[in-house]
Amino acid sequence: MTRLNWGMIGGGDGSQIGPAHRMGAQADGNFSFVAGALDADADRGKSYAQSLGIAPDRAYGNWRDMLEGEREHPDRVDLVTVATPNSTHFEITRAFLEAGFNVLCEKPMTMTVEEGEEIVRLAREAGRICAVNYCYSAYPMVRQMKAMVAAGELGAIRCVVANFSHGHHAAGDDADNPRVRWRYDPAQAGVSGQMADCGIHALHMASFILGDELRSLSADFASTVPGRVLEDDAMVNFRTEKGTVGRLWTSTIALGRQHGLDIQVFGETGGLRWASEQPNQIHYHRLGGRVEIIEKGEAGLHGDAARLSRVPIAHPEGFPLAVANIYVDLAARIRGEVAGALPGAEDGLRSMAAVYAAVDSARRDGAWVDARPPMFR
Ligand code: NAI
Repeated sequence: MTRLNWGMIGGGDGSQIGPAHRMGAQADGNFSFVAGALDADADRGKSYAQSLGIAPDRAYGNWRDMLEGEREHPDRVDLVTVATPNSTHFEITRAFLEAGFNVLCEKPMTMTVEEGEEIVRLAREAGRICAVNYCYSAYPMVRQMKAMVAAGELGAIRCVVANFSHGHHAAGDDADNPRVRWRYDPAQAGVSGQMADCGIHALHMASFILGDELRSLSADFASTVPGRVLEDDAMVNFRTEKGTVGRLWTSTIALGRQHGLDIQVFGETGGLRWASEQPNQIHYHRLGGRVEIIEKGEAGLHGDAARLSRVPIAHPEGFPLAVANIYVDLAARIRGEVAGALPGAEDGLRSMAAVYAAVDSARRDGAWVDARPPMFR
């Protein structure tokens, strides 16, 4: 099996998500890290890239130089990861798709619904992969939940409850911290704070596990820390295309919750619960029975849950390996092999439509609004 060539934009020294991509892309020997424009500062980016083993001529000072350098390169990258701040995702992803590269873009894929639709059209026209890093969907036990729902093990689904609520921006006297402030500043973050940052992960999980898409929603947004413009807490009621009742709570002021991503699915004959802080287990309650714990690595799991488990039963398998699972299926797609589920540009677009619908609803006292992107109505 020949290795594929991989490059990254953003994810420089000290970034939050860069290490998970580097570990994830290289975990299974599918990709060689050969090119990068890793930092907003050209010199820092070049020297950091070289410290990671990238050749000097492919350690680029910015993404435009990388585009030009890789476009004609005889051994050009097979995949580009975009791990820069949100407002840059659209123009970088568009430019690389137009040049015929496959792209893995961080969430949120774009800042507007219109941009999202443009990326979907472009990826389809170019015949290139445009994936979005909804990496929580690639945990083995999340795949187990999806498979159990699809197999009817819960009966008809009635309700899904998703939370992504943490307490890391709860400190009022931290509101002026530059690493916190931009997230609530419309000029930098766009129309939404926490909903666009974390709420979309939880909503994507709900759709992914159910195999069903968001149709409409009603939102209540709050900015609980004085001086914040965008929301730091949101409650969203929603309905899916198949009519399932949905509840989402997302917050940054929920002291006592750490990562705070968890999801529960309730069917006619069973319920399931998964939490990112105990990702190896799901709790399964059959109607009339007791709660069972289903453990990653045990016998009898559905195929995708078994396929995406790497370490033996009861040993932790965490975030970088969930990201690695995204890269496993990206490599298979690029090689033209059978691949598992991969969050795509359509998912990135649906998230943006949900964010705009929630903002619209919250401004109109929770009015129910259509949450589908115009191109999917
Ligand atoms: P960060 O601020 O920690 O790091 C951003 C990096 O990008 C820095 O190294 C910076 O120098 C570099 N950069 C900025 N502009 C650039 C440009 N024009 N060209 C090249 N490099 C540039 O940000 P963080 O937290 O790593 O987030 C990056 C993206 O990843 C965001 O879109 C965020 O929403 C997403 N993210 C996704 C997560 C997930 O679970 N999928 C988790 C955390 C972040």
